[in-house]
Amino acid sequence: MSDPSLEQIQQDALAAVAASSTLSQLEAARVAHTGRKSPLSEILAGIGGLPPERRGEVGKGANLARRAVQEALDARTAELEAEEMGAALERDTTDVTLPGDPRPVGALHPITQIRLEMEEILLGLGYRVADGPEVETEWHNFTALNTPAGHPARSPSDTFFIEGHPDRMLRTQTSPVQVRAMEREQPPIYLIAPGAVYRRDDVDATHSPMFHQMEGLAVDEGLTLAHLKGTMLHFFRELLGKDREILLQPHFFPFTEPSVDVQVSYIDRSGRPGWLELAGAGMVDPNVLEACGIDSERYTGFAFGCGLDRIAMIRFGVPDLRLFFEGDLRFLEQFA
Ligand code: DAH
Repeated sequence: MSDPSLEQIQQDALAAVAASSTLSQLEAARVAHTGRKSPLSEILAGIGGLPPERRGEVGKGANLARRAVQEALDARTAELEAEEMGAALERDTTDVTLPGDPRPVGALHPITQIRLEMEEILLGLGYRVADGPEVETEWHNFTALNTPAGHPARSPSDTFFIEGHPDRMLRTQTSPVQVRAMEREQPPIYLIAPGAVYRRDDVDATHSPMFHQMEGLAVDEGLTLAHLKGTMLHFFRELLGKDREILLQPHFFPFTEPSVDVQVSYIDRSGRPGWLELAGAGMVDPNVLEACGIDSERYTGFAFGCGLDRIAMIRFGVPDLRLFFEGDLRFLEQFA
């Protein structure tokens, strides 16, 4: 085989590569000019049958030709791929490299933030979080809690009763969760129950017919008022600052005996010290233990209840309770 024909073969191949205007045409050219049955491959395959003195020359020439064709194929492949990519991008107008349309990241509501903090503190003391229904029975919300018939809280002017169900109401406190837990299980019981409660109050800067409380209940052998006080001191120092002091002031609640108001020290804006009433608490009344099926000779307990919203107002310096419930993003975004 002579050199001119090898040259011709190479030229034909290069011309076919150059003439390919799509990747599939180029693939056809590759098969035709470098495939197993192409003239170039046949020359290379026939080298063994040549006289020895010609093998070197023909082999070298054919390999150079093949390399030249392969380089042309590679270069044309890159060109055509780029063209096809450009055409595809033109057809499809979505540009995935443009910056995205950012979605604002949400944040927890300030009341939720306070609730989670409170839970965290008490979970650390071994309490668990319990839940109860917001539509309660008279038994759970009042009677089992030692609140006698005729007590003013039980009147329809203070409480939202459910129409057609005189013994059903929106719970006025989270305390009924205590009853549900004690009816279900025997001590030791250490639980907290945060949630919404409802009272017939007119809306103003410090009142709302719906607000939030967190209940605490501990029932075990040998619990005393000292345990209650230590728990409250730890709780409020963790929540509001290590320099807080607490004061237990005698009070009355139907379901505890003795009952106290838990006051927490604070310094007002002009630097004057004072006390804030932040929780109700006391030793669980033996009548309540017995109503729930717990032996009041063997077990004692303490309970406490505090308003989440009020504590959130203090913690975040929010002057008006209504701000928490109006859903104004300009207000809420400040807690993100
Ligand atoms: N349930 C009471 C209220 O709504 C708060 C309270 C006081 C809860 C004393 C308690 C407690 O568990 O022991 O005003």
